Amino acid sequence: MKIVVAGTGYVGLVTGACLSEVGHNVTCVDIDENKVEKMKKGISPIYEPGLDDLLKRNHDEGRLDFTTDYKNAYKDADLVFIGVGTPEREDGSANLDYVFKVCEQIAKNVENDCLVVVKSTVPIGTNDRVEAFLRENAKNDINIEVASNPEFLAQGTAVVDTLHAKRIVIGVESKRSEEILREVYERYNQPIVVTNRRSAEMIKYASNDFLALKISFMNEIANFCEMVGADVEDVAKGMSFDPRIGDKFLKAGIGYGGSCFPKDTKALHWLANDNGYELKTIKATIEVNQNQKYKLFRAAKQRFGSLKGLKVAVLGLTFKPGTDDLREAPSIPNVRRLLDEGAEIVAYDPVGIDNFKRIYSNEIEYVNDPKEALKGADLTLIFTEWNEIKSLDLGVYEELMNSAVIFDGRNCYEVNDVEERKVEYHSVGRKAVLNLQNDVKNEVAVTLF
Ligand code: UDX
Repeated sequence: MKIVVAGTGYVGLVTGACLSEVGHNVTCVDIDENKVEKMKKGISPIYEPGLDDLLKRNHDEGRLDFTTDYKNAYKDADLVFIGVGTPEREDGSANLDYVFKVCEQIAKNVENDCLVVVKSTVPIGTNDRVEAFLRENAKNDINIEVASNPEFLAQGTAVVDTLHAKRIVIGVESKRSEEILREVYERYNQPIVVTNRRSAEMIKYASNDFLALKISFMNEIANFCEMVGADVEDVAKGMSFDPRIGDKFLKAGIGYGGSCFPKDTKALHWLANDNGYELKTIKATIEVNQNQKYKLFRAAKQRFGSLKGLKVAVLGLTFKPGTDDLREAPSIPNVRRLLDEGAEIVAYDPVGIDNFKRIYSNEIEYVNDPKEALKGADLTLIFTEWNEIKSLDLGVYEELMNSAVIFDGRNCYEVNDVEERKVEYHSVGRKAVLNLQNDVKNEVAVTLF
């Protein structure tokens, strides 16, 4: 079976690499010559643990190839996976231009009957449109079927998530498509859920939006915990023992970012509106997240009044640890506001600095060691819970900062440990530790957030 994968971003490249890892012959197509040459040498264009090894080994063993020559690749393909991006349009809807660009190339060049599998996250009904488009534009005697096969990998654990997925969802309209995809995924040995195409498309949005809802829910509970003296970490723990709730995605913080949750919540909300229905829970999820993103900035502003001329240590830039991706990272708009306020910023991130420099080049200083950022700082803002940050001894803040005022958006430290220190510590959904202020100790932070 000749498998071609269109697109070498997180979804496409990881799909291609993992399919070759279980023994399939795969060609990945991308328009960027430079990127293709690098991938052939085992250099992944994205930062993803384990991916370089997979690329190199499977390429060397002849199961995985990369090309810009899409005409040849699609010509005799039995199966084409579409894994290109579906970014957000200004109105919140999903932009399908890349998907249909690939469809155009497939239709023009394919010479065999083939199954086209849409892995990209697409609005409900898109697979029907893709099939109609391909059938209209391909040569008459070719039979093209389309199946939906959404991807559930998370960045930073993409390879493991794919090779050990919790489920594989297949949305098909024919027995033949189901059989082909069952054959492809047989070697993964994972549960397969077969539905029609529209249900498969909905499963992807409903899954992502439900996780986003869970996060926004916990963020609201956290904000309220601060007002009434409860501790959100304890609350989450207490909730998690109920198997109906589970212990995942209960972590309060400064909101979800990344390439999926923000875009997929907006896209589903837009789509429902377009159908004359208001998804109220998703609307609230989006609103809560938008507000939560600025929590640290608001708190710092309230604490200091003016931030003008203050030296701010920014620890963590990426939207989560384990990735160099900055899409929808809370650090970006917060840094903008800090700069507008006249603050001086020194930023640290173990892998995100190069990408951040593309957004803010000379306006802020970058350092490769978090301690360098803390030296002489008036306040610290923690945006990402990297191990390099979590493992920083609290004594270092005390020792190096001008005044050890910490705003921790990811609850990197235990409140009990912080209480031993001469620092002022504000986190999410927990009491503030005010040990810099001699007369008030361990007050509930009712005013700050
Ligand atoms: C997500 C889904 O997990 C994945 O299944 C889907 O295919 C793509 O979207 P990803 O965006 O890579 O993956 O990251 P994820 O680990 O889910 O985190 C998303 C955001 O939520 C991050 O900003 C993270 O910090 C935040 N988050 C996550 C929380 O704030 N609290 C949590 O408990 C979990």
